[in-house]
Amino acid sequence: MHRFACGLLMRHAPMQFLTRIAVRYGGIARIPLGRGFLYLVSTPDLIKTLLVDHRACFMKNTRYAVLQRVLGQGLLLSEGDVWRRQRVAAQPSFKPGALERNVPWMSSMVADHLDRWAERAARRASIDLSSELSRLAQSLSGHLLFGSVFSRYADSVFGLIESLEKSWPKVPRFLRPASRQRQAEKAAQLAQTMDAFDAKFLAMIDESQGSEAACMLTTLRADRAPGCEPYTDSQLCDQMKTLFFAGYETTETSMIWTQYLLARHPAVSARMTEEVDRLPPGRTLSADDLDALPYIDQVFKESLRLYSPIHSLSRVALEECELGGYRIPKGATVMVSLYASHRLPQYWPEPERFDPERFSAAQSAARHRFAYLPFAAGHRNCIGALLAVFEAKLIIAQIARRFRLRLVTRAPVKPRAGTTMHPSREIHMRIESRT
Ligand code: HEM
Repeated sequence: MHRFACGLLMRHAPMQFLTRIAVRYGGIARIPLGRGFLYLVSTPDLIKTLLVDHRACFMKNTRYAVLQRVLGQGLLLSEGDVWRRQRVAAQPSFKPGALERNVPWMSSMVADHLDRWAERAARRASIDLSSELSRLAQSLSGHLLFGSVFSRYADSVFGLIESLEKSWPKVPRFLRPASRQRQAEKAAQLAQTMDAFDAKFLAMIDESQGSEAACMLTTLRADRAPGCEPYTDSQLCDQMKTLFFAGYETTETSMIWTQYLLARHPAVSARMTEEVDRLPPGRTLSADDLDALPYIDQVFKESLRLYSPIHSLSRVALEECELGGYRIPKGATVMVSLYASHRLPQYWPEPERFDPERFSAAQSAARHRFAYLPFAAGHRNCIGALLAVFEAKLIIAQIARRFRLRLVTRAPVKPRAGTTMHPSREIHMRIESRT
């Protein structure tokens, strides 16, 4: 296809464009884009080759200067020995036992947040899903990282996130070049916001010094890797920002899509409600309760299939190599579109249909392990995958126990390929109390 046409399609409907290519050309396709080519890898075998077998030939694509400015050298963007140390140091906080210990306070935090919904339900008011769920996800993420210290900083952090969203480029610059002046203004705005952000995070790190509170910061501080200096405050700041953003934005996005899908599929919603009504009564949920929610687990998985918050994985070839019969030049960008791969009809019949049954034990058993990758795979897979499932089940189940959400927004909602895959417009829901 012509370079110009590919550029236009990538700009206006990237995920649909990549899906068409993945379905039509299969394993790997070379797309002329910008001044070079983008290599799209789509089938499970080749994705495994890229992410696991040939992983040493590729590094993560860290060319996005904006992301670098925001996250610094944290776990998401670091490479080599720096990454390895960070991953080992962070891992204990993400083990099942450690996560289970957080369930009681997380569950209370969700319940407190939903108390505000009860007032709205009494007034038959509607909510904007995104702003409601982002506050909740940010609070959970902040408290996991900093413990109670976060409460004192929460409002200013929420405010800074709003400023950050305003200065964030909506699409990569090569696809929509803004005027030089506009670019400079946005960059200055972003730098100012991030300076303020760093100051808040450094202040929280400083305030937590000497505290024994069980939070991720304490675990990271305790890391004494052999032969390594203790982390500096600036390194801790990068790591905490990375975990904060990686943790809250994906959770928020996945919750918006899940509630949207549930509101549009009353039969699924009804079956889910039956499941939560079988739980022992109470205002909050325990870690054991989460195990008793297999259908919610299926609902969440199917929502992540259709609307994977991270819609694509991008890698850069460190040397010339071969992939699926193609010669990949050194420096080329190789992409996996999770949006496209999760719609390949040979693995997902009627791919656009929302059907949690796809994730029943019977249907999942025969599926290729790399056909479904919302949390990626290989050594750079999502460290927070289990945490994400815990948070999702807590939020979905606690909403379902207390409320029914009715879709108010009538206009079509489409996915938009930003840093995460947000809906194209605000989604408003009317809240009805079930009791
Ligand atoms: C529904 C929720 C989530 C989804 C769909 C998700 C998805 C992903 C994906 C696809 C990657 C790989 C990115 C790449 O290779 O380019 C990733 C990496 C990562 N995620 Fe998540 N994530 C979620 C929640 C979380 C949470 C709750 C945390 C932690 C607080 C987290 C922390 C991270 C980190 C630190 C990495 C980088 C890991 C590394 O490179 O070693 N994520 N996530």
